[in-house]
Amino acid sequence: MSMETSADIAGLRATLDRFRQKGARIGFVPTMGNLHAGHISLIEQSVSRCDFTVASIFVNPLQFGAGEDFDTYPRTLADDQSKLVEAGCNLLFTPSTDQLYPRGLEAHTKVTVPEVTRHHCGAHRPGHFDGVSTIVNVLLNIVQPAVAFFGEKDFQQVAVIRKLVFDLQMPVEIVSGATRREDDGLAMSSRNQYLSAEDRPVAAELYRTLQHIASRIEDGEKNFLQLQTEGLENLSRKGFRTEYLNIVRADTLDVASERDEDIVVLVAARLGQTRLIDNIRIIRSHD
Ligand code: PAF
Repeated sequence: MSMETSADIAGLRATLDRFRQKGARIGFVPTMGNLHAGHISLIEQSVSRCDFTVASIFVNPLQFGAGEDFDTYPRTLADDQSKLVEAGCNLLFTPSTDQLYPRGLEAHTKVTVPEVTRHHCGAHRPGHFDGVSTIVNVLLNIVQPAVAFFGEKDFQQVAVIRKLVFDLQMPVEIVSGATRREDDGLAMSSRNQYLSAEDRPVAAELYRTLQHIASRIEDGEKNFLQLQTEGLENLSRKGFRTEYLNIVRADTLDVASERDEDIVVLVAARLGQTRLIDNIRIIRSHD
């Protein structure tokens, strides 16, 4: 089946209305492009669970802070289109900034999701999650999918979007897809290509550190502060500048206690010019 690429909001709405009227279940994968196997696995999930799959590519200026990589973020449309066609995507939406923010970024209505944005990336990238929740809200209103798919590498982003959809009673199911990794464990990310040849093998140490912490918790280590300190020390020795390494409850993203059964370790660290994030989930039972 061929895939249409459209930047036209009214046309896209009309096409999707026609499919919905016929009872089709619409799946949606919002992205910023430069697609890798993680994105493609979300497309494949949508294709297997839905009748019609829409992807969007929009590098959202509202979620980038001053001095961040908005201008240099990799834009690879032709390559992305081939990958989407191969994965069975039905429609690619490529809106412009003027279409989505017609009165400019400053004047646009913003959506703020409280609490779950307080720590971690929320604390280190002021305004970032307002940008994410605003654009996700806009895109969900345009596409009106039954299901929307997001990658678990951005664990806090998924929590923010789940809360957004819950609090605003948005009629969409949010499905998260497992992080895809390179052979050495590095989480796939569009930003990995910023890594120098020298830093690239070192970057895998981020996930190895998470795995080490997870196995210590699974073995019964209760001193989470100590684990965090050791993790930070290890990353620093390897040349990372760590923004945070936090052991938290998977539901609220607040500090975990030794009694918690569903835990996630969240990390963000810089290696050279590249900011990397990753996480590992530990589900245990005290029975
Ligand atoms: O995860 C991303 O690529 C972006 O944050 C998203 C969800 C497409 C919003 O711009």
